[in-house]
Amino acid sequence: MISPRVMRALAAPVLGHLDPDLLAMMDEMRDQLRRLFRAPEGSFAFAVSGTGTSGLEATVANLVQDGTRVLAIVTGYFGDRLAQVCERYGARVTRLEVEWGRACDPQRVREALARQGADIVCVVHAETSTGVRNPVEEIAAVAHDAGALILVDAVTSLGGHPLELEKWGIDAAYSCTQKCVGAPSGMAPVAFAPSALARRVKCRSFYLDLGLLEDYWVRRKYHHTISASLVYALHEALTAIDEEGLEARWARHERNHLVLTAGLEAMGLGLLPPVGERLWTLNAVRVPEGVDEATARKDLLTRFNMEVGAGLGPLAGKIWRVGIMGHSSSPQAILLFLGAIEGVLRLQGHRVPPGAGTAAAIAAIDG
Ligand SMILES: Cc1ncc(COP(=O)(O)O)c(C=O)c1O
Repeated sequence: MISPRVMRALAAPVLGHLDPDLLAMMDEMRDQLRRLFRAPEGSFAFAVSGTGTSGLEATVANLVQDGTRVLAIVTGYFGDRLAQVCERYGARVTRLEVEWGRACDPQRVREALARQGADIVCVVHAETSTGVRNPVEEIAAVAHDAGALILVDAVTSLGGHPLELEKWGIDAAYSCTQKCVGAPSGMAPVAFAPSALARRVKCRSFYLDLGLLEDYWVRRKYHHTISASLVYALHEALTAIDEEGLEARWARHERNHLVLTAGLEAMGLGLLPPVGERLWTLNAVRVPEGVDEATARKDLLTRFNMEVGAGLGPLAGKIWRVGIMGHSSSPQAILLFLGAIEGVLRLQGHRVPPGAGTAAAIAAIDG
């Protein structure tokens, strides 16, 4: 869900893409994004016009060229996408495959880099397909020990989970606006630390060329016609994050994840990843034996106006992906969801103790 204040911002009169007022807002946004990524001084943080995948492609297109050696950590669907895009830009990609539903052990990264070095290590921080959080801080340290840059997909973590570009030594990262940031989709926050800016390659893409994008964002030279409405929405969402406080926002996402899992457990529903590897923002819930997951998802949508994601790839039919991010990370949304999932399970004859989920969640809220 998008907060009412961000929806209102979308409706403001549309300015031109070089209007001084819009450019002033974009300047402020660069500072807001640098703070959101916790990126070091001298970083270039801005938003690509496009969804999260455009952020992915922008970071790759400016850091990867023919022959670049990439170690791609693949812990799910989006790690695979990152590896594929690196291949399309000419990289020699080695994949470190991890069982879906588990996080990558940094020791495996160390061993892979010892076997064959890499120029760049890529990893998805919050793997949305499995609900797993990868230990990015430890992986960044291992990558740096081997002289590689680290490129991080922060699509489902930025604004919801701790992410510290400067402290953890992350060289480049990208995200989206529609998840924990709390705006509609259509822009992709990205950040290049000075270490990544120093290792830019000649970019094959015109639209995603960092030099041309800097000309627009910093030197006010036309490159493309940015959507003023999406800029207003993102600016408003970032201002709301500043007001809430980033650490308080992380804590809210953690608290609400624990409320949700307390409710699910009381209903006998488990999560796919083990404790310690779970995301707070995307909860991969195992579908109980005998329940048809697609029917339950359809019932949730048509009867209760609630959308949850299906399992992808090898997890199709086995999990529901329950996102509690940004404005939706609230006790109210969780209580509604727990009541609704009890209702749709009951429709399929799957009995759960009546009200047990909401009772446990309420106890967790108070507790
Ligand atoms: C981890 C991750 N990376 C990349 C993407 C692609 O983002 P988008 O769909 O906004 O292009 C997603 C989308 O859900 C994602 O979850």
